[in-house]
Amino acid sequence: MSDADVVLTVGRRLDFQLAYGSPSVFQGAKFVRIGDTPSEMRDNRRGAVEILASPAETLRAMVEHAGNRESKVDRQWAAKLRGGHEERAKKLQQSMANAPKGSDGKLHPIQAEFVKADALQCGFCTPGMVMACKALLDNRKDPSLVDIKRGLSGNICRCGAYPRIFAAVQAAAKLV
Ligand code: FES
Repeated sequence: MSDADVVLTVGRRLDFQLAYGSPSVFQGAKFVRIGDTPSEMRDNRRGAVEILASPAETLRAMVEHAGNRESKVDRQWAAKLRGGHEERAKKLQQSMANAPKGSDGKLHPIQAEFVKADALQCGFCTPGMVMACKALLDNRKDPSLVDIKRGLSGNICRCGAYPRIFAAVQAAAKLV
């Protein structure tokens, strides 16, 4: 998969594991986003066209229009990517569980929540996000979503992994 002219999303958030949310992927593509809640359409990469509609009705209409043609989607490619990601995540979780305490030991709960929430894509912004999260939680025990957004606002995630980052911070707030 090298490029696309159009990427159509129906009724769900963009899949970061396939990097659709990243502007570095499919740079020239027009995104058409269809969903029945605004957050499904505007989570990180805005569509050139955004349509508020029922995903089920949309899919039904598309299948009807396509006349049940055979799919050309490379499902093996996507499954291979997902499998590799799951394998890496499993290895990381195992090494985290077995690591000794100390300076090169177990992850801090904030780091662990970032891993659990899959809140890192390329990972460049992650150290800054984790440190900003630590500073925020040191000063505020039960931060609201607005507090979290303000607390992390000095860090920019170009991948647009914000929804998962916010979820990781919310989960970490319950632990630290
Ligand atoms: S995870 Fe890549 S910039 Fe944030």
